[in-house]
Amino acid sequence: MRAWRRIRVIGAVAGVVGLSGLVGAGGCSMFQSEQAAKGKKLYSHYCMHCHGENGKQNEGFNWSSMTDPKPKDLSNKEEMGTFKDEEIFNTISRDMKDTGPGGDKIGDDEFAVPTMPTFKHTLSEEEIWGIVGYVRSLHGRKLEFNVEGRKNELQAAVQAAEQKFKEADRVAQEAEKKASDEADKKGVEVDDNAYLKEMQLMGQAKKELDQATLALVNFTTRPGKGVNITRPALTMKPEAATKLAEVGKQLYMTKYGCNGCHKIGDEGGKVGPALDRAGFRLNPTWVYRWLRNPQAMKSDTRMPSLGLNDADAKAVALYLKTLRAPKPDKSLGKASD
Ligand code: HEC
Ligand code: HEC
Repeated sequence: MRAWRRIRVIGAVAGVVGLSGLVGAGGCSMFQSEQAAKGKKLYSHYCMHCHGENGKQNEGFNWSSMTDPKPKDLSNKEEMGTFKDEEIFNTISRDMKDTGPGGDKIGDDEFAVPTMPTFKHTLSEEEIWGIVGYVRSLHGRKLEFNVEGRKNELQAAVQAAEQKFKEADRVAQEAEKKASDEADKKGVEVDDNAYLKEMQLMGQAKKELDQATLALVNFTTRPGKGVNITRPALTMKPEAATKLAEVGKQLYMTKYGCNGCHKIGDEGGKVGPALDRAGFRLNPTWVYRWLRNPQAMKSDTRMPSLGLNDADAKAVALYLKTLRAPKPDKSLGKASD
């Protein structure tokens, strides 16, 4: 299985404001050891079942239950050493792609293995960098990316954008007052066009401030907080439901790799419960809400939020509704026949 590589633009906001030069290399060692401890904890919670405590093959309890490709050996210095910090970050924090027939277009060097989940919708960027640092330690390397510097840069960008916005706002108010004073003198209606340019510049500065703030928020806080999942419209004709369930079945395997963690029949991982009888046990509306944002229902669950949109979550929920395996009959002991 080939690897990937499409690098998300990380420096966009800092680039706009031009503050990259303000932040020195290196960083405070207290910050670094704190980061490393957090990274280790997060790795134990979200990665270890598949990749193992030391990143080695067949070390995680789920490793042998998975289909090929098996979770990568993160302790392999030769292979892992060829990845840049940013590349590892982008694997852990990517958008899931449908690798099935008629699915998404996937670039030659793009990593798109469905059974390696994304954590983009579950963890903050800062937390993901902590994990990347820990992954580095598994193959005897150090994180080179300056996480503290990046955070300072984002904070400085917000401050600069705030200054710029305040100034633009002051100029716009002044221009408006001037136009209104002039109109008063002449005894005519205010000409809104007279201060239009200043208003536009103020609007632009506000947009830049919002962008800078969002970049900082994404860096420091987990996504999905306060996201309101509306009730899904799951009532439809049986034929439509059957069709959607087919779509959901494909998404389950080829886009979200749910099979990496859940068993159906004899196939699949064992990080989460088996789903053979999900159609009896679980209500599709509940499943929909769970899939959209598991953390909103159970903040410390090991199941990541995989970024299912409304359509995908509906389809997968309807697929799970079709899973109605008979109850395993324990009184039989071994399989009969
Ligand atoms: C459900 C099992 C599973 C979980 C959980 C999981 N991974 Fe993976 N991981 C995989 C699989 C499968 C691959 C693909 C291996 C391949 O392509 O050969 C992979 C690949 C990788 C790679 C290599 C990517 C590349 O470019 O080849 C890295 C790095 C990685 N995982 C890190 C992590 C980290 C860090 C976590 C936790 C935040 C994590 N994984 C959680 C299954 C998992
Ligand atoms: C990295 C592993 C992982 C992946 C990937 C994953 N899950 Fe889960 N899932 C879990 C775990 C662990 C639980 C148990 C939740 C808990 O109590 O924390 C769970 C719980 C569930 C439940 C509730 C089951 C029950 O019996 O209560 C459903 C439904 C579910 N997952 C469906 C899915 C679907 C559909 C996908 C793919 C879109 C998926 N999961 C991907 C790990 C995973």
